[in-house]
Amino acid sequence: MNIDARYALKIMLPALATLALLLAISPAYSLAAEASAADIEEGRQVAADRQRGNCYSCHHVAGAELAGNVGPPLVVMKQRFPDRAVLYQQIADPRIRNPDTVMPPYGAHGILTEHDRNRDVDYGLSL
Ligand code: HEC
Repeated sequence: MNIDARYALKIMLPALATLALLLAISPAYSLAAEASAADIEEGRQVAADRQRGNCYSCHHVAGAELAGNVGPPLVVMKQRFPDRAVLYQQIADPRIRNPDTVMPPYGAHGILTEHDRNRDVDYGLSL
């Protein structure tokens, strides 16, 4: 191997190693980031259920049987909530963002389980 080739290899190796690492972790990352269709459907049922989420009584959502207008319509959610944690917090305890809100604190008051809150976030991000 001549000097140039060895030099090129030395420069390329860290880049190749980084690429290999990224490729290795990317399937796991996308699994964690993307909700399954079943998770989204479960979240839709929690949101629609008047004994649980009852979200449609206050929020307009395309295709929902109620057309609530107390809160803002839940649209283009992924763009408006790029950080999942912000949406989760809005559902778990909206008083953190607005102490005077009429939206129920679903986590803080034990209205929805953590599991159901997460499914609602999955559903919300699909809208
Ligand atoms: C009693 C009415 C009411 C119910 C029920 C309700 N919300 Fe809300 N929600 C509001 C109001 C009002 C706001 C406006 C922000 C505020 O008051 O702080 C809001 C804000 C939001 C926001 C922020 C929207 C934005 O554009 O910034 C999200 C997301 C949200 N609600 C999701 C939900 C979900 C999911 C449910 C059901 C689990 C739900 N809400 C149930 C009244 C309600």
